[in-house]
Amino acid sequence: MRTIIIQFGGTGDLAVKKLYPAYENLMDDGYQFEVLALGRRYTDREEFLKESVREEAPVSFTEHLDYLYYDTSKDDAVTNLVAKLKEKIAENQDIHFIYYLALQPSLYEDAIHQIKEVDSALSCDCTLTKRIVVEKPFGFDLESATRYNKVLEQAFTDKEIFRIDHYLGKEFMQNILLMRFHNDIIRRIWDNRTIESIQIVFDETHGVDQRLGFYEKIGVVRDTIQNHIMQIITYLTMGEPASLSPGDIATEKVKVLKSISPIEDFYMGRYESLGATSGHIVQTPTYAAFKLFVNSYDFANIPIYVRTGKMQNEPKSLIYIKFKNMTKQVMHDEHIAENSVIITIHPELTIDISMNLKVPNTSWQSKPVRFRFNQSDTFGANTPEAYEQIVEKILQDDKSLFPTMEEINEAWRIVEPMLSEEPPVEVYPMKTLPRLVHQLAKENSFEWFD
Ligand code: BG6
Repeated sequence: MRTIIIQFGGTGDLAVKKLYPAYENLMDDGYQFEVLALGRRYTDREEFLKESVREEAPVSFTEHLDYLYYDTSKDDAVTNLVAKLKEKIAENQDIHFIYYLALQPSLYEDAIHQIKEVDSALSCDCTLTKRIVVEKPFGFDLESATRYNKVLEQAFTDKEIFRIDHYLGKEFMQNILLMRFHNDIIRRIWDNRTIESIQIVFDETHGVDQRLGFYEKIGVVRDTIQNHIMQIITYLTMGEPASLSPGDIATEKVKVLKSISPIEDFYMGRYESLGATSGHIVQTPTYAAFKLFVNSYDFANIPIYVRTGKMQNEPKSLIYIKFKNMTKQVMHDEHIAENSVIITIHPELTIDISMNLKVPNTSWQSKPVRFRFNQSDTFGANTPEAYEQIVEKILQDDKSLFPTMEEINEAWRIVEPMLSEEPPVEVYPMKTLPRLVHQLAKENSFEWFD
């Protein structure tokens, strides 16, 4: 069977930075497929290859890349694509088309309608199968996501639709589930009897000016909170699934999302020079911090503090699970530290469990000591990037790392109030933490993990 990925947004930031390197590695690993990149930026294949693919890329990769100038707003876009795909069909018996939408949400509706048209114009005496892949954020809000999905489902069955959140392809995410559900000792302490609070910190050093066209219409809530952050929360707080199958995991994730109560203490910020080179005023928020609760029997009353945003001095991606500290009270010793689990994502994946152990030559004096798992020390440094794992699953037709539409809808429901009741946006100097981060901590009497 000949597999062709039809890459909408084929000259965009995501395709160039994440997808083409993933495709190259997968081809190198023996996967056989081709890519037809669609874009407006370049007129022909030569120019596309020169600008979008790394110079040293081997011919064994580039020979599988084709390009078609494609402007969704032009009348002949569909006709040209149909003609191109017919050429591919003519050469084959069995053909598998994967339409991959890496576009900004405002272009989705037109693109989906066009794919529907393309699909109905194609026929052959061969076996023609198809899949469609849609990037996050799927929609702008609950209403648009539902609308896009309706159109999608007119041309594709649910089995044929892959909705992406590349965080599900990350090792740290998959490790959260394994750590929780393959370890009895962890499973037994992972609830509100033992956990006091959770922090999720995603501070990124880069800004968004190079992808302003996408980001200015999106902002931090749609960019990372509706998807990545909500997915992390479901992994941290879902109940025990009957198995680690996609269906059983999705059932538990939806339960979590349904039990998230309205977001509290929501703050937003924007870095000072956002859009400086664009010549127009850009007010889009690039930082957010808030508190939420998952109102399930096992996790109610555990505050989950989240902060995520751009243009920070230090890259910091971690999850801090702080356990209750009864020992302090029982032992009448204020110095006894809390136990904790710290999942650090950058610069490398480590998981620390912090426990108190005796300082030598002292009389019952303890000190927090960390027991560390370091992924690259244990398993080697060559773990595939998230996108590689995600695309591999698509090629294998395996839906285990993809959120369902129900999850996406629930996540929109949770974040929608954040979009409509936007609080004042603090403008923060580049490379500094917005004051709002400290404000959230002060209001809630906690300290961010450092
Ligand atoms: C993307 C967002 O989905 O995730 C980006 O659009 C963000 O703004 C990125 O920087 C973070 O992903 P990663 O894989 O770099 O942690």
